Amino acid sequence: MDDLLDQLRTSIGADHVLTEDADVAAYVVDWTGTHAGRALAVVRPGSTEEVAAVVAACAGAGVAVVPQGGNTGLVGGGVPDASGSQVVLSLGRMRRVREVDPVAGTVTVDAGVVLADVQAAAEKVDRLFPMSLGSEGSCTIGGNLSTNAGGTAVLRYGMTRELVLGLEVVLPDGRVWDGLRGLRKDNTGYDLTQLFVGAEGTLGVITGAVLRLFPATPRHATAWVAVPSVDAAVSLLGLAQQHAGVHLSTFEIANRQAIDLVLAHLPGASDPLGEPSDWYVLVELAGSASDTGLDETLESLLGEAVEAGTAVDAAIAGSPAQRSALWALREGISEVQKVEGATLKHDVTLPIARLAEWATTIGPRLQEVCPGVRLVTYGHVGDGNLHYNLNAPLADDRSDDDALRAAAADLTAAIYDSVAREAGSISAEHGLGRTKVVAAASYKSDVEVDLMRALKHALDPAGLMNPGVLVPPTQ
Ligand code: FAD
Ligand code: MLT
Ligand code: ZN
Repeated sequence: MDDLLDQLRTSIGADHVLTEDADVAAYVVDWTGTHAGRALAVVRPGSTEEVAAVVAACAGAGVAVVPQGGNTGLVGGGVPDASGSQVVLSLGRMRRVREVDPVAGTVTVDAGVVLADVQAAAEKVDRLFPMSLGSEGSCTIGGNLSTNAGGTAVLRYGMTRELVLGLEVVLPDGRVWDGLRGLRKDNTGYDLTQLFVGAEGTLGVITGAVLRLFPATPRHATAWVAVPSVDAAVSLLGLAQQHAGVHLSTFEIANRQAIDLVLAHLPGASDPLGEPSDWYVLVELAGSASDTGLDETLESLLGEAVEAGTAVDAAIAGSPAQRSALWALREGISEVQKVEGATLKHDVTLPIARLAEWATTIGPRLQEVCPGVRLVTYGHVGDGNLHYNLNAPLADDRSDDDALRAAAADLTAAIYDSVAREAGSISAEHGLGRTKVVAAASYKSDVEVDLMRALKHALDPAGLMNPGVLVPPTQ
């Protein structure tokens, strides 16, 4: 291993090969704190050529590589296992916006560029890069592509895979595939770009990407709406689609438990509505400078919703500051859940027509499994995607994390089995990582698991690219 470390130091500079515990600490534990591994080294190459040299050297030494972007992933896919034999390859130094072409509607970036910086690069040329996540200040485009991230703009613009036109990838043997093409039409064979999207670093290291840009949407109309139930939220979604058409850009849900945590822990947060409600929806319409009627559209759809009983009350943002305050209520939930103690995360999608009934029946079932468990439910209801996250019951006003840990396997099984019965998915947008790799395989057919293993073997026969992640182990 000393030979490998020497080779890495020669290839990318000794300063960028970290081996001391204090230096590697932030790279070996995930954001949730549930996956803590060890690394042979953390390497920080500064260019595609350097990434290729690192991967080739590791392949030659038979050492596994774990690609890492902003380390905001929620399923433990970007951190090493406990063996101490893996090399973490951080893209943190590759932060160059290579080219912006507003007419072609493309931006070409290094994989380590932070999502918020891509949004800013688009804004500078009066365009929109629509992907938006609570972690956008630290997650990277390479991580977004590798997890096929979702977020709050999927309803209008689709998942990450719909926002990419071409990729540059270092393959597991160290060769570079230059697929950085911005073509809208290209039917010349298998879609290799899409193969790497959502692959969670198991097929190669993404080093660059051509992404799609859209017309800017400087006008917004935003409301925080109290709704009586998930069923009512789904009805309101239908109404909003009918009234606002393509302008409907956000439709997010949160239950009162989630908002109570935000109000308790997020500095400056306040309830924009008088009476507490069981459920809330954040609705936003977005349009170009000439779309002057968004406020009226929002008001008329909310008026109709109140009359029909699908909405109880609503607060409409009257200024950019009020808009930000409404967004903070939704975007703050993940962070405040951490403050509250151990969290058991579930990221599920169901066919939207089944969502309300599922949400009504699963809560009581979970209370039987773990009495007092707190249901912190929120997410992208417009996409049929709920974050059915659980916090420990309270004992003497304190979070009883042990009770949650003891019941964790049974709680998760109850959720996953019920989602599978409804033909839903146990990972809507976060991926499988290390957390869900085994569970996901148990809900897939043998044919599907075989296809996944065949693809992995074709590109990475030695199994050195992020082993233990996404692809189920052979028994
Ligand atoms: P990392 O965590 O570093 O890595 C994630 C995976 O991608 C790992 O498997 C890693 O090996 C692989 N990877 C990273 N970079 C590369 C690369 N260049 N080449 C190959 N493989 C690579 N996710 C959503 O989908 N929607 C949300 O709304 C959302 N909200 C979030 C809110 C908060 C507060 C937090 C903390 C997370 C949220 N996430 C959300 C999850 C997370 O931010 C996304 O999964 C994001 O895409 C991960 O990007 P990253 O750069 O941090 O990747
Ligand atoms: C979000 O939408 O806020 C995240 O994807 C959910 C989470 O942190 O569980
Ligand atoms: Zn989410």
